[in-house]
Amino acid sequence: MAVRIEPSILSADFTALAAEVARIPSADLVHVDVMDNHFVPNLTFGLPMVERLLQVTDLPLDVHLMIDDPDRWAPGFAEAGAAVVTFHAEAAGDAVATARAIRAAGARPGIALKPGTAPDSVIERLDQVGQVLVMTVEPGFGGQAFQEDMLDKVARLRGAIGDRDVWLQVDGGIGPDTIRRARDAGADTFVAGSSVFGQEDPDAAVRRLRQLAER
Ligand code: DX5
Ligand code: ZN
Repeated sequence: MAVRIEPSILSADFTALAAEVARIPSADLVHVDVMDNHFVPNLTFGLPMVERLLQVTDLPLDVHLMIDDPDRWAPGFAEAGAAVVTFHAEAAGDAVATARAIRAAGARPGIALKPGTAPDSVIERLDQVGQVLVMTVEPGFGGQAFQEDMLDKVARLRGAIGDRDVWLQVDGGIGPDTIRRARDAGADTFVAGSSVFGQEDPDAAVRRLRQLAER
């Protein structure tokens, strides 16, 4: 099974994002946390920033939308050129229609689950999505502790996904101490913010995470 490492620029220097992204050439994708201060109590950036980032890096972008009304906003990020657009199950009105619109615009559609959200609704829709994101912290902020009890949810989704082309992503508290457990539970796509951009050499941190996950 392929392993994908996605550094989250939430922990990067917002005044120098092009330079920050250039420091992680070993990454598979770049994780971009869009927050609206409604769905989560934090505010980051939106579509104009994503459009600009696409111009300054060749790495594919995975946009994690922590926003209300993704049905309205998500397809625009796909049209802009994001490789993956992930929205929250809790915020979506019609998750299947939104996933379809993202795919029609050329991106891989993802559905994210907050720690308190059961995986059942997503399990019924696995033929319509390209990624399931299991949040392993409450969304909103980097640097929080990994929630160990999310591993059961990951394992259940891994079993349900079977041989479908659906990436199983974990986001929150992923670092050298936790990535192996998430991998053993069945995750294949790993978001890491503070454990990458908090390091002197972020690309070495990416390579180390990959090594630990592939071991
Ligand atoms: C949190 C974001 C994460 C965040 C993870 O709501 O979705 O992507 O950047 O940060 P770390 O890896 O520091 O927990
Ligand atoms: Zn995220």
